[in-house]
Amino acid sequence: MTMGSLRPRHRQPKIAMHRALVLFTAVATLAALPAALAAGEAPIVIKFSHVAAPQAHKSKGAERFKALAEEYTGGRVRIELYPNSQLYKDKEELEALQLGAVEMLAPSLSKFGPLGIKAFEAFDLPYLFRDTTDLARITEGPIGRELLDLLEEKGIIGLGYWNNGFKILSANRPLLKPDDLLGLKVRIQSSRVIEEQMTALGALPQVLAFSEAYQALSSGVVDGTENPPANMLNQKMYEVQRHATLTHHGFLGYAVIVNRDFWTSLPGDIRADLERALREATPYANAEAAKENADAMAEMRTTGKTAFHEPTAQERAVWEAALRPVRARMADRVGRSVIERIETELARPSP
Ligand code: LMR
Repeated sequence: MTMGSLRPRHRQPKIAMHRALVLFTAVATLAALPAALAAGEAPIVIKFSHVAAPQAHKSKGAERFKALAEEYTGGRVRIELYPNSQLYKDKEELEALQLGAVEMLAPSLSKFGPLGIKAFEAFDLPYLFRDTTDLARITEGPIGRELLDLLEEKGIIGLGYWNNGFKILSANRPLLKPDDLLGLKVRIQSSRVIEEQMTALGALPQVLAFSEAYQALSSGVVDGTENPPANMLNQKMYEVQRHATLTHHGFLGYAVIVNRDFWTSLPGDIRADLERALREATPYANAEAAKENADAMAEMRTTGKTAFHEPTAQERAVWEAALRPVRARMADRVGRSVIERIETELARPSP
């Protein structure tokens, strides 16, 4: 008599049930595993670096992109997110992308000038864009596509655009009119158009990395700056700027970009999945940007640390007049034809 035959007969169905359950669980687990992992293939890793805070809308857009990209590629791609300049600051991140040290970024459109792609500075021209509908007419049309295509010769592929918002000017004195900026040192991004804009207002522009702006403001290295409200809040700049004026003179937006050689080496189906993920993450990223900028204004107002000034129609006309010459002065740098095409598309003639 074997040990097995001593088993009480009534236990056998239970054992069979247990085995079936184990088998079922194993099959279910395998089915739930991403295809790539089940096949033992190592996922393709995309390091996505950026300078915005982990709680910022750019991070939320990146997180949504990551979730969709990993889902659509069945785990064949893993996106690693590195927010808050933890890997690279503004200038370094573009160099790192070109060298292939990271695969993906979402820098501001104001940061491509130093690479030699000056046409992007059209997005910085004061009072050219009035709202995000204006922006979408350019970024979602042929002009936006042609601008992204200019990046290719620099080893970069432009996949799309994400919004931040319209900028406000801040300092430790009231900025009720352009002359109030006379002699103030103002932190700017690395755009010659923004530099010319600050010069036109009588300020002294200083290019500084985003990650250095708070420190520069709090130590008095610079006196003022310009930001969409979400950036002013997330970087705590409102704590060290007692006044701000809602000039909305310019827009801050992003290009979502990848290293060209990495991108072209990917299988076509993976590229299509990633493009789909980005296409679907973009409306979410833009909606979060709009919401966060509105919420940031409300939150900063509540703290009472900064006095916000809403220009009257007359005051706004004075700001516009002071910044009017910038478009003509920067036409050679940015490219007359790109400016004219944007003006025509928006039905907004040269001032
Ligand atoms: C800045 O440098 O002010 C912005 O481009 C930062 C960002 O990514 O929003």
